[in-house]
Amino acid sequence: VAGTTRRINTIDYVLNQFLKSGNLSKLPAVVRDALRVGAYQLLFLDGIEPSCAVDASVEIVKKGKYKGFSGMVNGVLRKIARAEKCSILDFSGLSQIAMLSLKHSFPEWLVAKWLQSFSADRVNLICEHFNNKHGLFAYCNKTKQNIVILLTALEAEDWNCRSTNSFSDVIDLGKNFKPEKSTAFLQGGMHIVDLPSVLVAKAVGANPGDKVIDLCAAPGGKTFCMAADMEGKGSIYACDVDNGRLDLIRDNMVRLGYSDQFLHLIKNDATEKPREDWIGYFDRVLVDAPCSGTGVMGRKADARWRKSSHDIAVLASIQIKILSQAAMLVKPGGTLVYSTCSMEQEEGEDVVNQFLAQNSKFSVEHFCADDGVFATYFNEDGFLRTFPHIHDLDGFFIARMRCAGE
Ligand SMILES: C[S@@+](CC[C@H](N)C(=O)[O-])C[C@H]1O[C@@H](n2cnc3c(N)ncnc32)[C@H](O)[C@@H]1O
Repeated sequence: VAGTTRRINTIDYVLNQFLKSGNLSKLPAVVRDALRVGAYQLLFLDGIEPSCAVDASVEIVKKGKYKGFSGMVNGVLRKIARAEKCSILDFSGLSQIAMLSLKHSFPEWLVAKWLQSFSADRVNLICEHFNNKHGLFAYCNKTKQNIVILLTALEAEDWNCRSTNSFSDVIDLGKNFKPEKSTAFLQGGMHIVDLPSVLVAKAVGANPGDKVIDLCAAPGGKTFCMAADMEGKGSIYACDVDNGRLDLIRDNMVRLGYSDQFLHLIKNDATEKPREDWIGYFDRVLVDAPCSGTGVMGRKADARWRKSSHDIAVLASIQIKILSQAAMLVKPGGTLVYSTCSMEQEEGEDVVNQFLAQNSKFSVEHFCADDGVFATYFNEDGFLRTFPHIHDLDGFFIARMRCAGE
C-alpha cells in the first residue's frame, strides 16, 4: 500500500492511458484501488510474477459487489503487463514539470517550485533520493553505556552494525535491523534517529548540567539526542502542543530510562506568551518547528500529497511566531536553535532574517559537529543546509543564534 500511495500520480496517469473510458476517477473506489495496486506491482516491483499481480487484483474485485468490473480489470492489467515497461514510463514528450512529476510521482506544484531554485538535473536527483530506501541509524544512549559497549552488545546479537565516519555517537544499523528484536534496543541502549536530527542536536550542543527546552519536541528524535549528550544531568523540557504526540516521547522515555525529574514532558503552545518562570531561564532553546517537510518527502508515503504551496506560507508565519516567543526563554549568553526539515527558503533563511531584524540581541554563529565534515555545509549567511542531491541526506535547515550576554 505504501508503494502505491507514493507512486499514485504516475500509476493513475498510466491507468488512464490504458482505460477505454480514460477516466479512472469515475470507477468505484474498490475497482480503482485494485487497478492501482496491480499496476504498482507490474510497474515498480521486481520479483512478482505479472500473472500473480493481475490475478490478485481481479480476485479482489470478484469478491465485492462490483464483480462485473473484473473482466475490465483483467484486460487493463494484462495489457500493461504485456507492454514494454520503459515505454509506458517514458514521459519525455511532456513538459519538463509534467515529465519530472510523473517520472518520480511528485506533485506538479512542488516540482515547479523546486525548478525555480534548482536545475532539472538536481530536481531529478532530489526526487530520486526521496524514492530510494535509506539506512537506519541509532544514537547511543550515553547515559547507559558508551558506543563501544553498545556495538559489542549489537554484535553479540548478530546484527551487522558499525560506527559512522561522521558522528562518534551514531551507529549505522544497516538495512535489516529490527528494533523490536534487539535486546540492546529494547533495554534502552539507543534510539533510532536520522542524521540531520543529529546535526540539529549538535547545533544545540547540550552539556551535562544544562537547562534545555525543546519547544516542538514530539516524537522526540532530537530530545533524546540532547538527553544522551547531557548524560541525564541537568534538565530538559520537552514540549509540544499535541498531547497524543507527547505520548510518543513518554513511551521512549521509559524505555531509555530517563526520570521525570530530568526530562519534563509539557503540553505547551509555543506560539503563545511563555510562562513567567521560563523567561530568561534556559541555557539552550530548540525550535524544531512544524513545517511543510519538503526535505523529508521520502519518509512517509503520503507526505508529498498532503501539503500544498499555501501551507508553506501558513507554516512560515507560525514559525516566526514560535521563534519570537522562544527568544524570551533564552538566558543572556545562551543559544537559540531554529531548524526545519524543509528545503524552502521561506521556512529557513527568510524566517531567521526576519527574526534577526526584530531581535538585535541575537546573532548567528557556526557550530562544530564532530569531525568537521559538516563545516562545509554552512552557507555564506552562516546557516547550515543539507540537500539530498549534494549530501545524500534529507533536506534540513539549521540556524544557531546566540543571545548577547548581560
Ligand atoms: C517537526 S515536528 C518536531 C519533530 C521533533 N523535534 C523530533 O525531532 O522528533 C514539529 C512538532 O511541532 C508541534 N507543534 C506544532 N505547532 C506547535 C505549537 N504551536 N507549539 C508547540 N508545538 C507545536 C507538532 O505537534 C510536531 O510534533
